[in-house]
Amino acid sequence: MDTEKDSPKMRIFPVEYLWDGYVLNNDIFNHTGAVKLLAKGEKIEKSRLDKLMRFSGNDKHIMVYDETYRDLMANEKVPLFVRQKMTEQYSGYAALQQNVGSLFHKPDFDSWLDREQMEPLAEEITGKVVNFDPLTILSCISFPRPMDEGLQRHSLNVALLNAMQAEWLGLGADDIKLFTLAGLLHDIGKTMIPEEILNAPRRLTAEELAVMREHPVYSDRLLCGKFDENVRFAARHHHEKLDGTGYPDGISGEGIGLCARVTAISDIYDAMVSARSYKDSRLPLNVLNMFYEEEFDGLDRRLVMLFLKNMRLKYTNREVVMSNGEKGTIRYIPLNDAGHPIIQQNGIVRQADEEWYCREMVALYP
Ligand SMILES: [Fe+2]
Repeated sequence: MDTEKDSPKMRIFPVEYLWDGYVLNNDIFNHTGAVKLLAKGEKIEKSRLDKLMRFSGNDKHIMVYDETYRDLMANEKVPLFVRQKMTEQYSGYAALQQNVGSLFHKPDFDSWLDREQMEPLAEEITGKVVNFDPLTILSCISFPRPMDEGLQRHSLNVALLNAMQAEWLGLGADDIKLFTLAGLLHDIGKTMIPEEILNAPRRLTAEELAVMREHPVYSDRLLCGKFDENVRFAARHHHEKLDGTGYPDGISGEGIGLCARVTAISDIYDAMVSARSYKDSRLPLNVLNMFYEEEFDGLDRRLVMLFLKNMRLKYTNREVVMSNGEKGTIRYIPLNDAGHPIIQQNGIVRQADEEWYCREMVALYP
């Protein structure tokens, strides 16, 4: 799973986000990695920061070992948007997002919405899931996103989550690619919804909601004849419910295919972790808990259980920052109470609660 093993265990870090008083847990080097600037145990002071600035090249970066990088990135002194940007760059998510964006913004639908353009992108997305630490990808998915990037980020995220689920289901490479493509294109019909409804910063009226609920039909129309039926029907049926209470067709049970059922889970998960401001973003563990408590209705229970099982495995033994600012390690995530995992901190093991809770995931880097 990990292709990063062969790369040097050093990362670039912007000097501007170092701070006066930080004690180095390992040596740090200039931007080329060739010159040691400060040694392990030394404290960063104002005068040293000036020196570091001089030795950090034009882009003002230094090279630090992984452990220093993780320690710095887990600290509140590095703003969340900087950590987000760096994680997106490092994981390749930023490049994928750019590719999705450039395809989604082509003016003429017929010129871009075809298999020749979309399949390589789906393959690239699948490769990212197979070859990269899933938690890093999951952390990119849960970063807050600006409104205007909503559709393209959601499409990319659902594609990534579909690829993960297809892999957990043990599907073959061709099917994994199809499921990824279905995730990428499931909401493409939203490009036909008027902007003022799509991005309305308020609750939609009944009439607007009816327009919005047509998007799976538009997706179907746009994909029909161009893509595999799995992709087309996943797009049409990703809001259907097994009990027949979904839309647009109100179909139930066996009428909803596997790819649509998987896409429904990815879609809901991404919608639940997504936020338009840092304040509103939800910790993935809390989302898993909500999933367990609230979102079973109408979804394929077997797939939801597989999703929760694998997500819990991904987060077990990962570092978190607790509400008191100290780091801990997740040792166990209860299935029926994922928001309150068992945490080990300095040799003590206890369950998180309302006063002492996980504030942030740390282990973003394999
Ligand atoms: Fe949708």
